[in-house]
Amino acid sequence: MNTDIVTLMGERQTGYSLPGPFYSDAGIYRLDTDRVFGKLWMLVGHVSQIPEPGDCFLAEIAGESIWVVRRDNDEIGAFYDVRSHACHVLVFEGLIFICLAGDSPPDVGPTLQEMAPFVKPQNLAGARVIHETVLATDANWKLVVENFWECNHCEPSHPEFMTVHDRNWMLAMGAGLGACVSEQAAMDYQGKFEAFEERAQQLGHPFGSASKLGLASTEFWQVLRSPLAEGCYSETRDGKKVGPLMGDLNDFDGGMTHISFNPLASLWLCNDHAVTFNFRPMGPMSTDVHMMWLVDGDAEPDKDYTVEDVAWMWTATGLQDKTITENNQSGVNSSRYQPGPYSLMERQLEDFVQWYFARLRETGNGS
Ligand SMILES: [Fe+2]
Repeated sequence: MNTDIVTLMGERQTGYSLPGPFYSDAGIYRLDTDRVFGKLWMLVGHVSQIPEPGDCFLAEIAGESIWVVRRDNDEIGAFYDVRSHACHVLVFEGLIFICLAGDSPPDVGPTLQEMAPFVKPQNLAGARVIHETVLATDANWKLVVENFWECNHCEPSHPEFMTVHDRNWMLAMGAGLGACVSEQAAMDYQGKFEAFEERAQQLGHPFGSASKLGLASTEFWQVLRSPLAEGCYSETRDGKKVGPLMGDLNDFDGGMTHISFNPLASLWLCNDHAVTFNFRPMGPMSTDVHMMWLVDGDAEPDKDYTVEDVAWMWTATGLQDKTITENNQSGVNSSRYQPGPYSLMERQLEDFVQWYFARLRETGNGS
């Protein structure tokens, strides 16, 4: 590894954001491409986008153009635009992932097995994409991830988001598992959380959490079910229902499910719709933020749902996040930038940085 990068990694203080070049340098971005993106399963779409044999779409990601196709035998395949070289592809509950690894992609079978009970009741495989957005964001992919994996900015920046989430939820677990800011908030929240879990259990819905935020492998994932604000059914305007229940869910349970497959791919499940987030690195200071909204496969447009209602909250929140992230990029580009300390609500960012450094140190596929 380049000695400059080793030195920069050594200079970084625990609990602080990264030295500036990690957010802008072309050489470090090339290393990220080989050692990070090349070893992850990247979320690129859903099977409902290519319903018929011969249907296809193009995914641009980390300098590669990948065609995703439905073959004549109904299987999903992927190949590079150049020379039609095959690309690794994986379908989980209808979601399509690709891996740019040169030889063997990471085995995520056991992880997906742990996640499956949280996803299966929504029958995501039978769901339908109703809307997509791409927010071309002028920022390094790590700034996008850092912003998405913490909730320190939620209260001042996301008024729509905060209408459907309790402040105590945010303080107790809104920044992810283990990122509790206030023990008092967690205690105050405990009663509501337990009541939600009891309701979910009574309905036969999943509840609880699972995670692996380790350093030894590419695995960096988590699943968490938690309640929405009082009286809210979904992450929507006024928390109202915006479509029929998905899959085999028995009733609205007042909660939602957050799933992060890896730092670049997440899925948020409400009872009546789902949203996916995938961050596609496009350059040292350029990341495409893709969002995709899904509803139950039998839901009919304008009769059962409208795109405007379903996509309301994350359309607004995503645009706010784009502005924040681009401002952060401007900040780290300044000659006066100094790494700053993460807040208590940003604890998972330290885990992310440690995981990222572990990947940089790793040799193997694609390196
Ligand atoms: Fe945000």
